[in-house]
Amino acid sequence: MGPEQPSSAPSAQPVPADPVDRVIAYHVRTKHHFDRYAKSLGFLDWANQPNPFRRFEGACLVPLPLLGADEEPRSPSYDAIYQADAVASQPLTIRTLSRFFELALGLSAWKRAGESEWALRNNPSSGNLHPTEGYVLLPPLDESGLPPGLYHYAPREHGLELRSECPAESITRLLAGFPPGAFLFGLTSVHWREAWKYGERAFRYCNHDVGHALGSARIAAATLGWKMLLLDGADQNQVARVLGTHRAEDYGEAEPEHPDCLAVIWPDASGARPAADLPLCLDQALVSDLIAGSWHGKANRLSREHGVHWDAIDDAAEASWKTTVEPLAVQRSQGSVLSTTHHDSRTAVDAGRIIRQRRSAVAFDAKTGMPSETFFHILQRLMPQAGAPQVDRPMPWDLLPWEPAIHLMLFVHRVEGLRPGLYVLARDYNRLPLLKSSMSPDLEWSPTPGCPADLPLYWLLQGDAQRLAAQVSCHQGIAGDSAFSLGMLAEFEGRLRDRGAWWYPRLFWEAGLVGQVLYLEAEAAGLRGTGIGCFFDDPVHEIVGIKDLALQSLYHFTIGGPVDDGRLLTLPPYYHLRRE
Ligand SMILES: Cc1cc2nc3c(=O)[nH]c(=O)nc-3n(C[C@H](O)[C@H](O)[C@H](O)COP(=O)(O)O)c2cc1C
Repeated sequence: MGPEQPSSAPSAQPVPADPVDRVIAYHVRTKHHFDRYAKSLGFLDWANQPNPFRRFEGACLVPLPLLGADEEPRSPSYDAIYQADAVASQPLTIRTLSRFFELALGLSAWKRAGESEWALRNNPSSGNLHPTEGYVLLPPLDESGLPPGLYHYAPREHGLELRSECPAESITRLLAGFPPGAFLFGLTSVHWREAWKYGERAFRYCNHDVGHALGSARIAAATLGWKMLLLDGADQNQVARVLGTHRAEDYGEAEPEHPDCLAVIWPDASGARPAADLPLCLDQALVSDLIAGSWHGKANRLSREHGVHWDAIDDAAEASWKTTVEPLAVQRSQGSVLSTTHHDSRTAVDAGRIIRQRRSAVAFDAKTGMPSETFFHILQRLMPQAGAPQVDRPMPWDLLPWEPAIHLMLFVHRVEGLRPGLYVLARDYNRLPLLKSSMSPDLEWSPTPGCPADLPLYWLLQGDAQRLAAQVSCHQGIAGDSAFSLGMLAEFEGRLRDRGAWWYPRLFWEAGLVGQVLYLEAEAAGLRGTGIGCFFDDPVHEIVGIKDLALQSLYHFTIGGPVDDGRLLTLPPYYHLRRE
């Protein structure tokens, strides 16, 4: 993560009463400005660096089998996971569950420099702080040795900690509305892990990381032929109750977990569409039944002391707490399945390899470019086919039950056949009028030469944007030395006022998911990507003349030819388990 320095933040403003005004106030006060960064400690309190690994002491840990890349279940090709029904569906077993967690949230390597050693994971995280914790609610599984119940995933041990054993009938009844073989997946965030380093802006980063983790889970599920859908109709109390984060007695002095979301995952046997509409929340009475059983384990404390407490984060979390339940259902498809429009034979290489090799570039060579076909192809992967029935949208966009809210503003530096300059990609063609009306009337808006017809990509300004991109990205060279970089423009105030303050985190989740696809696409193209959470908000907006809150840039990303840091030693992800 880039440089973030102490700030002389404005004196405390009165907190507005309306939740939407509160999240907007949080957003505005956590902007970075050229002359002032969002409020943070300004130095790293190393003595209290949070432990990146949460454990529940006293909960039984069930180790998942450590599977070599060549062992079953093996990954399909990277291309296959994006093609509807190209991957044969695997049954839910302890081995497929192990592969799912490995590729979704497992370790990807250890890095060593001198005396220090730290783990990297298949899901990236701002500052490698990993605030996101993963959970699974499992139905009875044959011969797995895993009793039905709620488990917390322990990535260092690659095991599942049994938090609550649930009667098989209760889980079966709870999951009865979903396709056969379904189970639940959930995410929580320890805000403290990011706040320790980034102060008030940390709530944003935690939500980016949720988006990345949702993406890595959706893509891991796709390697097994599984479908996944966010249960976004559930209210947040329900999410808390299912994941056990409401149990203050199990957290004690330990850092709390914020319940983010629940998703349902199911083996999509023989490509069959779900037999009925899929509910987007759980039955309240059945949830109460489920959690009435016995709970195990006490959360470990991650830092000895906590120094400054950032009230602004608590306030944003409280204001965006989802209190409504929408008994929405995702309609099953009536017609035939849409296939993805882009068939690419670039990557016969297996998906698992791309996922495991994903890393953030720490520097780019300021030389390597890419052909325009590769650039267009990467952007096509980001198109969610807005308006299509949910279950028929291309993976991973079938996960999010809403119309896309994130569009891209691209700084093109080194794409063969394209003039360097500034471009815009509307991820939903119908949102072009909003994009145009929110930006300066002086922009060009010419169709991009050679661009495929299904890509609403427009050229706005010509010129070398390398210095500009780096300057607005907290002076980080990675934004200018790449082939291209981008800012993710969210439909901001309109969505929040229409839908409610609980949409604030969702905008970051969608941005994180876009980032996750970009990370893997960069690897598949033989390049490398890096997420950029540190940027100067309003100077970015000024580039295209955004004057109000209709659009806000929430996250940046960059892709190019990496320069590795040769001083670091890389060790295999689970070498410590084989040694212990
Ligand atoms: C939301 C987010 C924001 C990030 N912001 C930056 C950034 O501003 N600058 C940077 O160099 N890296 C940034 N990163 C990259 C992380 O530092 C990187 O993911 C982390 O160190 C783990 O390394 P890995 O991605 O190689 O596994 C960001 C990553 C994420 C997910």
